[in-house]
Amino acid sequence: MRGAPRAQPPRTRVIPVLAICVALCAAARADDADLGREVYDDFCVTCHGRDMVNPGGVTFDLRKFPKEDFERFRNAVLDGKPPAMPPWRDKISDDDLKVLWAYVRSGG
Ligand code: HEC
Repeated sequence: MRGAPRAQPPRTRVIPVLAICVALCAAARADDADLGREVYDDFCVTCHGRDMVNPGGVTFDLRKFPKEDFERFRNAVLDGKPPAMPPWRDKISDDDLKVLWAYVRSGG
C-alpha cells in the first residue's frame, strides 16, 4: 500500500489584523481644558500668568484654587475681585466660564 494520502498540513490562515488606526480617533479632540486655555490666554494671562504660573505675589495663584468650588470661581470671575480684578460678566459667556473652570481644574 502506498499508504493513505498524507494529510495536508492545515493551511494556516493568516487572519489579517485590522489594526487600522482610524485617523479620526487619534485626531486631537480639543477638550474643555484646551478651550479654556484659549479663553484664559485672551483674558486672564496678563495677571494670572502663563500656564497659571503666578508672576508675582499679588494675584491669586489659580493652581491653588479649590477644585470643588465652582460657585466661588463663578462669582469671582463674573463679579471680579475689586479693586484688583475686573468683572468679566460682559465678556465671558457661560460656555467660556465652563471651559475656563475645566482649565483651572486641570492645573495649567
Ligand atoms: C487685571 C488683572 C487680572 C485679570 C485680567 C484677571 N484677574 Fe483674576 N485676580 C486678580 C487679582 C489681583 C486677584 C486677587 C484678588 C483678591 O484676592 O482680592 C484675582 C483673583 C482671582 C480668583 C480668586 C478669587 C477668590 O475667590 O479668591 C479667581 C478665581 C480669578 N482671579 C480668576 C480669573 C480669571 C478666570 C480671569 C480671566 C477671565 C482673571 N482672573 C483675570 C487679577 C486679575
